[in-house]
Amino acid sequence: MSQLQNDTFLRALCREPVEYTPVWLMRQAGRYLPEYCATRKEAGSFLQLCKNTALATEVTLQPLERYPLDAAILFSDILTVPDAMGLGLYFAEGEGPKFERPLRDERDILALTVPDVGTELRYVTDAVSSIRKALCGRVPLIGFSGSPFTLACYMIEGQGSATFSRVKTMLYDRPELLHHILDVNARTVIDYLNAQIEAGAQAVQIFDTWGGALAYGKYQEFSLNYMRQVIAGLKREHDGRKVPVIVFTKGGGLWLEDIANSGCDAVGLDWTVDLADARRRIGDKVALQGNFDPNALFANPAAIESEVDRLLASFGEGEGHVFNLGHGISQFTNPDHVTTLVESVHNQSRKYHQF
Ligand code: CP3
Repeated sequence: MSQLQNDTFLRALCREPVEYTPVWLMRQAGRYLPEYCATRKEAGSFLQLCKNTALATEVTLQPLERYPLDAAILFSDILTVPDAMGLGLYFAEGEGPKFERPLRDERDILALTVPDVGTELRYVTDAVSSIRKALCGRVPLIGFSGSPFTLACYMIEGQGSATFSRVKTMLYDRPELLHHILDVNARTVIDYLNAQIEAGAQAVQIFDTWGGALAYGKYQEFSLNYMRQVIAGLKREHDGRKVPVIVFTKGGGLWLEDIANSGCDAVGLDWTVDLADARRRIGDKVALQGNFDPNALFANPAAIESEVDRLLASFGEGEGHVFNLGHGISQFTNPDHVTTLVESVHNQSRKYHQF
């Protein structure tokens, strides 16, 4: 494997000295980029794009051609995992993801098993190997998975939901059934992330998009515990280098101490927390990533620069900061505004680091 030319992101995740604050964006390859829309059209659909090694590689690299980002993220989706379990993922035009066979009765739930990741999700690890080759060591590649709980949300509801009423009903009525799904999911996610690491992913992120919808106590029991189990099962070193793990629970601001104790190396923050406060609370344990309001990218470049300035100052001097958004970038973002964001992070952050 080629030597990394820019390992700023990996060093920041390990709270090691860096020259500037590294930056990448959740959903950095996506519909706000016209070149992404063109490649997706060529592929036929979003899922075909994920399953086509050459095209998945192409879209992963697209944002890096435009912006000097410090990491690439595998182009795929968290819902490939339940699809591999046989739930039948499809995307209805303009409606987001859906499953043909959601988990609706006890028999289906008890029949759920860990799929053979090596065959069922081979297209993902093929994409990882191909992207690593195409990157030629420019920046590290991030692999990812949904958290066991966030995957369960889609598997039970059959699609996204505003209330997650089926999931919540199961949680209170039949907690043992939800625990069964979560246990199968956790074991699958371990195999899946380890396969990505073996194929070349140099850091991994667990997306817990819906953990923040849980009550206090239920979050710890039904989401965090299973992420902890996943982290404990991961290969934490590959090719002689540590593979850092990032946990991102959207809406998890009240539970940062618990999240930081999960065994992860970095905690992803949405935009509802104060970065300085988060650093005081957990910055001696883990690196911090995220926090920039994705909607601030709609504003004019001067406002974007001042928000960047504010966040960098809020984290302050020292190590352990990865700049990112607090959630995925909107498809309605002006790509030129991303140029402003990335350049101002790089330019304005040098004064906070004494390399
Ligand atoms: O960050 C990246 O650039 C890597 C690729 C990536 C995608 N999805 C591509 C995608 C990643 C890391 C994800 C994660 C994901 N997928 C999450 C967790 C993060 C989050 O946003 O909360 C979730 C909940 C999903 C499930 C999912 N996939 C939804 C709800 C949707 C529809 C919403 C939307 O933006 O359309 C998707 C589709 C999806 N996944 C798109 C992309 C680029 C858009 C599909 C398209 O091109 O039409």
